[in-house]
Amino acid sequence: MNIRCATPNDLMNMQHCNLLCLPENYQMKYYFYHGLSWPQLSYVAEDHGGTIVGYVLAKMEEDPEDSVPHGHITSLAVKRSHRRLGLAQKLMDQASRAMVENFKAQYVSLHVRKSNRAALHLYTETLKFSISEIEPKYYADGEDAYAMRRDLSEFREKCEADAEIPAIKGIFEAKEPIKQEQ
Ligand code: ACO
Repeated sequence: MNIRCATPNDLMNMQHCNLLCLPENYQMKYYFYHGLSWPQLSYVAEDHGGTIVGYVLAKMEEDPEDSVPHGHITSLAVKRSHRRLGLAQKLMDQASRAMVENFKAQYVSLHVRKSNRAALHLYTETLKFSISEIEPKYYADGEDAYAMRRDLSEFREKCEADAEIPAIKGIFEAKEPIKQEQ
């Protein structure tokens, strides 16, 4: 199984996977909006034959009332045949890391149905999201949503530590080479 950044060529297969897995579906232009505006943030999981078996569609939130940079997970799904292999967890971590590295995101948000036990377990237990709000009748069928958030400081710390390694390497490389005694 391979997790990689989504390309424009993947967007139709992501939409196909979404249609198989979720009642919340989007027009193709919404996938392009994500893929073209934030090409670093959406990821796919593909099997050995290159078939897309899962995706995360992500963006940065453009909320003028909130000056803190933060990302948003628009949609996440893994095909039934490939569930419980850790793919959703990996897709979410990749997208979150990319939000920090590219846009200095401080947290990531999402909405999930109150009745979606699998996703709720993934978000609260595995990924340490917490509920920030309940949004009544958020979905078209009248179901409430949990608005959730995950603090991304663990990724920020890793990102800062990774940035320090080339700087330290640079110090050593700048030193005079040790001369061999003749
Ligand atoms: N029941 C309970 N806990 C679960 C379940 C489940 N069915 N699925 C995942 N988890 C939890 C477990 O803690 C799991 O760890 P474990 O397997 O070691 O116990 C952990 O999450 C990690 O699971 P993954 O294997 O990474 O999750 P998976 O790849 O199976 O995908 C997903 C989970 C995305 C929720 C999948 O079931 C799915 O596609 N469901 C339909 C679509 C959906 O609900 N998407 C989310 C909607 S909200 C949104 O899009 C923002």
